[in-house]
Amino acid sequence: MAKIYAYGIRKDEEPYLNEWAKNHADVTVDYTAELLTPETAAQAAGADGVVVYQQLDYTAETLQALADQGVTKMSLRNVGIDNIDMAKAKELGFEITNVPVYSPNAIAEHAAIQTARILRQSKKLDKKIENGDLRWAPTIGREVRDQVVGVVGTGHIGQVFMQIMEGFGAKVIAYDVFKDPELEKKGYYVSLDEIYAQADVISLHVPALESTIHMINDETIAKMKDDAVLVNVSRGPLVDTDAVIRALDSGKLFGFVMDTYEDEVGIFNEDWQGKEFPDARLNDLIHRDNVLVTPHTAFYTTHAVRNMVLKAFDNNLALVKGEEPETPVKVG
Ligand SMILES: NC(=O)c1ccc[n+]([C@@H]2O[C@H](COP(=O)([O-])OP(=O)(O)OC[C@H]3O[C@@H](n4cnc5c(N)ncnc54)[C@H](O)[C@@H]3O)[C@@H](O)[C@H]2O)c1
Repeated sequence: MAKIYAYGIRKDEEPYLNEWAKNHADVTVDYTAELLTPETAAQAAGADGVVVYQQLDYTAETLQALADQGVTKMSLRNVGIDNIDMAKAKELGFEITNVPVYSPNAIAEHAAIQTARILRQSKKLDKKIENGDLRWAPTIGREVRDQVVGVVGTGHIGQVFMQIMEGFGAKVIAYDVFKDPELEKKGYYVSLDEIYAQADVISLHVPALESTIHMINDETIAKMKDDAVLVNVSRGPLVDTDAVIRALDSGKLFGFVMDTYEDEVGIFNEDWQGKEFPDARLNDLIHRDNVLVTPHTAFYTTHAVRNMVLKAFDNNLALVKGEEPETPVKVG
C-alpha cells in the first residue's frame, strides 16, 4: 500500500486532506503540522512520497535527510519553487510537482473587491461611522462603470479580473507581452504607455521578473492619470513602494491596493500584536485611509486551499505510481 506523508498541514487544510484520504482508501496518509527540516525528515520514513508547503528553504541538508529516508518524490501545495536547492534535488534524483493554478478567482475577486472599496472610500467611511460621524460628505464614491480599468498581465488571474470588472460595467483595456488570441480578437490590447495614459484603475497581474521589478516607479506614475488607483495583488517587487508613497502624498494617486509588499518576507502572516512593528513604512501605509493592505491573503479562500491540497496529493500519487503528474516541476 502506498504511503504519503504531508508536512506543514494547517488546521484549515485538514478537512481537505481527510477528504482526499477518504477517496483514496488504498493510500496511507499521515501528516504533521511541522515543516520539513533536516530534523523532521525522519518522520517520512517508510513513505513513498511527501506533500509540502513552506516558505522555509528546502536546503541541500533537508533534501539529503529526506533522501536518506528513501523519499525523493515531493509535491508542493503551492506554486513557488525558488526556495528549493534545485542542484541538490537533481543530484539526489528528486521528482517534484507544484500547483501553479489553484483558484485564479480567489485572487481576482480580492483585487476586484478592494478596487471597489477604494473607489467608494469605504475605509474612510467605516472609520467615520465608527466614530459616530454619519454625514455623507465629503466621502463620495466613484462608480466602477465609470472607470477605465487597465489590466497588466492577462494570464489566469488577469483574465478573471477583467471579467469581474466588466460585470460591474467598467471599460477594460489590457497589456501583456504575450497576447491571448481571443482577447486580441476582441480588441483589448493596448501598449503599456496607453494603459498608463488612459486607465483610472491599473491592476498588475504579472510575475516578478527582471523586466517587471519596480515597473511602477516615479516615471511610470508620472504617466498615469491624476486620481488613478493602483492595485497590486501580484508580487511586491513590481512596485517601488517609496514612489507610490510620494504619489499618495502628492495626491496623484487616489488609492493603493496592496496584497503583496516588496519587504513582506518575515512580516506577513505573523502576529505583531503586543510587539514592536518591524516596518515603519508598512505601518504608515496600513494606517492611511486610501490604502488597503492585506498580508498576501488574496489566495486564501476555502476553494483555493482545497484545490492546493487535493491537487498536490493527486500529483504525489501519480509520482508514487510512476505515472506522469499533471504539473511536474523541472528539476535542475
Ligand atoms: N496575492 C496572491 O495571493 C497571489 C496568489 C497567486 C498568484 N499571485 C501572483 O499573481 C500573478 C499572476 O498570476 P497568474 O496565475 O495569472 O499567472 P499567469 O502566468 O497565468 O499570467 C501571467 C501573465 O503575465 C504575462 N507577463 C509576463 N511578463 C510580462 C511583462 N513583462 N509585461 C506584461 N505581461 C507579462 C504573461 O504573458 C502572462 O500572461 C503572479 O505574479 C503570481 O505570483 C498572487
